[in-house]
Parts: sequence; C-alpha cells; structure tokens
Amino acid sequence: MIETITRIPVAHYANLKERAGYSIKIDDKEIALFKLSSGEVYALENRSPHPKGGVLSEGLVSGRFVYCPVYDWKISLVDGMVQAPDEGQVRTYSVERKEDILFIVL
Ligand code: FES
Repeated sequence: MIETITRIPVAHYANLKERAGYSIKIDDKEIALFKLSSGEVYALENRSPHPKGGVLSEGLVSGRFVYCPVYDWKISLVDGMVQAPDEGQVRTYSVERKEDILFIVL
C-alpha cells in the first residue's frame, strides 16, 4: 500500500513567539503549535487526554513540556507522553521548516 504524505503550510516561523502556543485547524484536526526558546517547533493534538480535555495551546510552556491549563498535567512536546504520576499520550505531528514557512506533515 502506498502512503501519501501531505505537507500543509501552517505558519511563518518568524511570526511565532517563543514559549507560546498557537491553535491551528486542519480539516477536523485541532493542532497546537509551540515554538520553544531554543527555536525548535513542536505540534500536538490540541487537547489534553484528561477527561476535561483542556486546550493545550493555552498551556504554559517550560523546557520541552507544556502544562495543561486545566489540571496542570505535564505533557512532553516531543512524544506527547503525559508525565507521571498522570498517564496518557497526546498525538504528535511532525513539523518541517523550509526557510520561513512551517509545515505540518500528515
Ligand atoms: S484537562 Fe485535565 S489535565 Fe488537561
């Protein structure tokens, strides 16, 4: 089976503030985009796996983690894993950068 890779342009890199979250929508997917102070950019499903489903783009970014704004779960921006003692995982998306344009890879 052939898998098709789609790159969707989502933002200008230079326009993103460091340690801020952005909410973007691609079809029915809500994605949170984060630019770290190191300059790295990560993308996660914009929803905490907690039953309250907090909006992660509104969370606090610290290092390579985001803290959910509702109950403060600590979630890795790298692999989406919720850190102990809480459990769960958020879907992550690959981000590619070509000059100033950021793409989400689906
Ligand atoms: S909604 Fe509860 S930790 Fe995010």
